[in-house]
Amino acid sequence: MPSPYATPTLRDEGSRDQRFQQLKTQLHEQLVREMDFAVMRSVESSVLRHELRRGAERLCSQHTDLLTQADRDRLIDELINEMMGHGPLEPLMHDPTVTDILINGPNCVYVERRGKLERTGIKFRDNNHLVEFVQRIASQVGRRIDEASPMVDARLPDGSRINAVIKPLALDGALVSIRRFSARPLSGEDLVARATATPRMMAFLAACVKARLNIVVSGGTGSGKTTLLNALSAFIPEDERVVTIEDAAELQLQQPHVARMETRAANLEGKGATSSRDLLRNALRMRPDRIIVGECRGAEAFDMLQAMNTGHDGGMSTIHANDARDALSRLEMLIGMAAPELPMWFIHRQIAAAIHIVVQVARLPGGERKIIQIAEVTGMQSDALNMHDVFRFQQRGLDDNQRVLGHFEATGIQPQCLERLQACGVVVPRSLFESGICDIDRFDCVRGL
Ligand SMILES: Nc1ncnc2c1ncn2[C@@H]1O[C@H](COP(=O)(O)OP(=O)(O)OP(=O)(O)O)[C@@H](O)[C@H]1O
Ligand SMILES: [Mg+2]
Repeated sequence: MPSPYATPTLRDEGSRDQRFQQLKTQLHEQLVREMDFAVMRSVESSVLRHELRRGAERLCSQHTDLLTQADRDRLIDELINEMMGHGPLEPLMHDPTVTDILINGPNCVYVERRGKLERTGIKFRDNNHLVEFVQRIASQVGRRIDEASPMVDARLPDGSRINAVIKPLALDGALVSIRRFSARPLSGEDLVARATATPRMMAFLAACVKARLNIVVSGGTGSGKTTLLNALSAFIPEDERVVTIEDAAELQLQQPHVARMETRAANLEGKGATSSRDLLRNALRMRPDRIIVGECRGAEAFDMLQAMNTGHDGGMSTIHANDARDALSRLEMLIGMAAPELPMWFIHRQIAAAIHIVVQVARLPGGERKIIQIAEVTGMQSDALNMHDVFRFQQRGLDDNQRVLGHFEATGIQPQCLERLQACGVVVPRSLFESGICDIDRFDCVRGL
C-alpha cells in the first residue's frame, strides 16, 4: 500500500494552502490509525492532548522539507483541535461575542453576535468532515448519530447545547445548531442595562419570585426565555432547596442548595428514556422548596400544575407561545393531551389556581430581546381565564437600522398579587404601577430588592 503521505503529491501544483490542507488530512488519517482511541478515551483530556501532540510532532518531523516551523506549529494545533476540540469551529467556540453557531452544510457557517446573524468564512473540508465532527462530539457525550438515527441533541462538555441533523433527513449536508453557553449568565441588572426590561418591571418580577408566586416565561424560539428564567432564579432566597428539571441543562443557578436533574433520551433499542414527567414526579419526593422545569412542552405540564396546586409554590418554567394568553392556551392544550378525560372548565380552574404571572419575551427585529408583556392571571369568569397586563412594551416602528422603536409602559393596573407580596413581607411601592411610560427609571429599585 503506498504511503498515505507520499511526498510527490505535496510537490504537485497547487497553492501553499492546498498543500498544507493535504498534508493535514494525511497526517490526520495516520494519527487516527496509530492512536489507540479505546485506551485514550479513558484518560484525562490533558494527557490525551499531550499524547496527540507527541504523535503529531513525530509525523510532522518526517516532513521538515515541506513545512516551516510556523506551519508545523499551526498544523499540530489544528490537528489537535480536529481530534479533540471543535475543529474549524474552535475560534468561534472561544469567541465570547458568539451566542449561536449555525451550520448549513460544510461550506456555510453562520454565527449570531449581538442578536444579528452573520455569515463567516469558515468551511469544513467536505460533508464527511462535518459529519465526522458531529459524530465525534456526540460520542464524547455518549450519543450516536448515523443514518439509522440521523438526529441528535446533546450538551457539550462546556455546557453549550448542540442539535445536529444529517442525511437522509438533512438534504444539503449536515445541519448543526449550537447554542453557546455563556460563562457568566445575564443577571436582572444586565437585562435592565440591555433594555430588555425597565428597573421597575424587574423589581416587580423579583418581588414575585421572593413571594413564591408561580411564574411562566413565554416566548418564541431563541427569544431569551431560559436567560430570563435564570436571571429570575437569582431572586430565590439562598436558604431554599431548589430542584431543577431540564432537557438539556442550561440553567446556572447561583444558590448553594440546588439539585439538578436532566432528562435522558431512549437508547438505540428505544429503552431507558427518562422524561421530564418522570423527573417531576420524583422531584416531589425530594423535599423541594421550589421546582423549576426548564421548559414545559409535554405531559409534565399537567404534573407541574398539580404540584403548584398542592403546596409546591414558587415554581417557574418556560413555554413556547406568542403572547401571554396564548401561553395559557398552550398549557391548556398540553394538559388536555396528558389527561384527555378532564373537562375544560376543570383544566381552566387548575391553571387559574396555579399560574400567577406570565412574562412574555420576544426577539425583536434587529435582534434585541425584550420583555414585551408582564401579565397577571386573576382567576376565572364563566369558565374563561381572566388575566390583565401590568406592564407591556409598545412598539412604534423601526429606525433606520431596522431596530425597534418603542417604549415600556405600566398599564396602571395595581396587581391583585400585591396583598400576597405584602403578606410575605415583600414590600413593593404602589407607585411602581402608576400608569405611563416607564423607560427612564433608576436602577435602585432592583438593587433594593
Ligand atoms: N435579554 C437579552 N439580551 C441579550 N441577549 C439575550 C437576552 N436574552 C437572551 N439572549 C441571548 O439570546 C440567545 C437565546 O437565549 P435563550 O437561550 O435564553 O432563549 P430561549 O428562548 O430559551 O431559546 P430556546 O427557544 O432555544 O430554548 C442566547 O444566546 C442568549 O445569550
Ligand atoms: Mg430555552
